[in-house]
Amino acid sequence: MKTAPATADEQRALWNGVVGRAWVDAQAALDQLFQPFEDLLADSVLAGSAQRVLDVGCGTGSTTLAVARRVGPGGHCIGIDVSEPMIATAREHAAREGSSAEFVCADAQTHAFEPARFDRLISRFGVMFFDDPVQAFANLRRAARDGAEMLLIVWRSGAENPFMTTAERAAAPLLPNLPTRKPGAPGQYAFADREHVDGILRSSGWADIDIRPLDVECTMPAAALMQYVTRLGVVGRVLHEVEEPRRTQVIQTVRAAFEPYVHGADVRFAAACWTVAARAAGST
Ligand SMILES: C[S@@+](CC[C@H](N)C(=O)[O-])C[C@H]1O[C@@H](n2cnc3c(N)ncnc32)[C@H](O)[C@@H]1O
Repeated sequence: MKTAPATADEQRALWNGVVGRAWVDAQAALDQLFQPFEDLLADSVLAGSAQRVLDVGCGTGSTTLAVARRVGPGGHCIGIDVSEPMIATAREHAAREGSSAEFVCADAQTHAFEPARFDRLISRFGVMFFDDPVQAFANLRRAARDGAEMLLIVWRSGAENPFMTTAERAAAPLLPNLPTRKPGAPGQYAFADREHVDGILRSSGWADIDIRPLDVECTMPAAALMQYVTRLGVVGRVLHEVEEPRRTQVIQTVRAAFEPYVHGADVRFAAACWTVAARAAGST
């Protein structure tokens, strides 16, 4: 049985390969799905505040662009992501919109940021993939000025997010080689345990840690569901390797399992997340 990619190299390969390409292709639907989280992060920045903001694991850059609009001409927003295809898409969007946002393709865990460069750090689901989260958040701490604020949105557990695990639960009997998720390993639910996240941030130079549940209703067009099912998540990652007629059988089984979430032209589900707020502790 395969296990989920755990090392930095495996994660990089994933986000530069099948998963990164799927996120680029599904970018419009995903940005619509996760719009409430983008609004929350953008609204956390004071309009016209001229802050220097870092968006960690920015993907195709929708949140980076939203924050760049928010900080105004005196501010600056930089997105960092390890995925070349996703950063290329983000740069295209920035050029199209004439945004001042910049994008860096690098591993946020080890990238040599200019010290004390940022007033604020944000992330929408982009910080759960580090193989050494304490090293990563210590590195991000060095990139932040003393007192800088950080606001992250991360997933709570798979058990609290049944929509997100529908495909793998439905497909498991048909796909014995489906990668299994190891609790705490890098991946979507790596920050599900509040105490674990608190410990990571305490150990890496962050203070005033405030972790709160965030429950949000998410919507996407029902027409986007098949793309979601066949390209994204654990099932989407392996489906291209599955031969017919098993492939069709998996798709039909998984699609049927999502039926409770389809309401006319929309798919709706409740996302169970944490907001993680913290402040860069002053140097002693
Ligand atoms: C779930 S996606 C979220 C993307 C984006 N924040 C959004 O909301 O659309 C996670 C992102 O984290 C990025 N990522 C994973 N490991 C990373 C690392 N070590 N450094 C920088 N980015 C990373 C991935 O490439 C991917 O774009």
